[in-house]
Amino acid sequence: MPRICVVSEQETVSFTCGLDETLLSAGLRAGIGLPYQCCSGTCGSCRFEVTAGEIWSQWPDAPGLSSRDRRLNRQLACQSRPLADCVIRMRLDQRYVPAIKPLRMTGVLRAIEPVTRDIARVTISTNRAAEFLPGQFALVHLAGVPAPRPYSMSNTPNGEGIWEFYIKRIPGGELTGMLFDGAAVGAAVELDGPYGMAYLRQVPDRPVLCVAGGSGIAPMLSIARAVARDSGTRPLHVYVGGRAPADVSPLVAVVQAVCGAHLRHLGAAVSNTEPAAEWTGEIGPIHEAVERDLAAQLKDFDVYLAGPPAMIDACLGMLSRHGVAADLVHYDAY
Ligand SMILES: Cc1cc2nc3c(=O)[nH]c(=O)nc-3n(C[C@H](O)[C@H](O)[C@H](O)COP(=O)(O)OP(=O)(O)OC[C@H]3O[C@@H](n4cnc5c(N)ncnc54)[C@H](O)[C@@H]3O)c2cc1C
Ligand code: FES
Repeated sequence: MPRICVVSEQETVSFTCGLDETLLSAGLRAGIGLPYQCCSGTCGSCRFEVTAGEIWSQWPDAPGLSSRDRRLNRQLACQSRPLADCVIRMRLDQRYVPAIKPLRMTGVLRAIEPVTRDIARVTISTNRAAEFLPGQFALVHLAGVPAPRPYSMSNTPNGEGIWEFYIKRIPGGELTGMLFDGAAVGAAVELDGPYGMAYLRQVPDRPVLCVAGGSGIAPMLSIARAVARDSGTRPLHVYVGGRAPADVSPLVAVVQAVCGAHLRHLGAAVSNTEPAAEWTGEIGPIHEAVERDLAAQLKDFDVYLAGPPAMIDACLGMLSRHGVAADLVHYDAY
């Protein structure tokens, strides 16, 4: 099996990496703090430079690399598989040493249940315990799709090996097209995880704010469930945003059903300026609803965000204007 030697400013470490796994997955499995965010070739935070050996990229055109990166022989650890022993130059960061090392598991697709017009609750079971921190994600491999896609778990860790996801259908999308149109309940699925840094921090008594846009509901549900289950004393505020009432109302109902009694506040907003007559939530971007309700208190919260990049950027800007420290805000943008 190829050996990967990582040279960083602080230290030199090495690990073995199978021909069929990425450098990022193998490094994290070996307990090494390789920086990353999306695991899917878009954010660029897992860049490294190849100084010896040969790698193969499962997505050579990945947007996480600029043309300058390519000229400098840089690659993405989440997309690179080894063809031989390699020496690479990469920044290491102890914060990325995984609390739970990711594992590759064989699973079975148990259910695909529509929740909104384009989001389904997808349940996969594995014959190992579902070990993850609330807010983390797993890489889902589906036969026929060349590369896995990341999806955040919406349930909480459990010994029964149940992994629940909220997956949005992407028009023309490869994996979601196959999942919504072709995948049969009972089909084999491979899961690799857990990954992700936007997981619930256990800080007793600090209030928790979760803001979800669309399928960003998944990790927010996991975090909200864990707060509700583990700590009756942490005030829990959840906000859900989306385009129209048909996109948002079913998600609000799910939050209410799974952690209703523990919710201090459940807010909702739609960006569609002419919602249906029965809509009782706010109209406008979700970060404005959060700001109107919490404003000066925001500094007291641990904040979790998941949703489209524009929503995340708007929330981050608003939180920064209210003096919320960056290390209290954890998010995944997709
Ligand atoms: C941390 C994180 C968590 C996420 N959680 C959720 C969630 O809970 N629910 C949800 O609905 N969505 C989630 N997403 C988005 C999701 O992973 C996919 O982007 C989306 O479902 C892609 O659908 P698709 O394959 O049908 O679309 P496609 O258009 O086929 O693929 C879109 C994405 O897949 C990747 N990709 C495309 N081609 C390749 C290739 N050749 N090799 C490697 N990668 C490729 C790229 O990231 C691309 O942006 C999350 C994304 C991230 C980064
Ligand atoms: S982790 Fe985002 S590009 Fe690799």
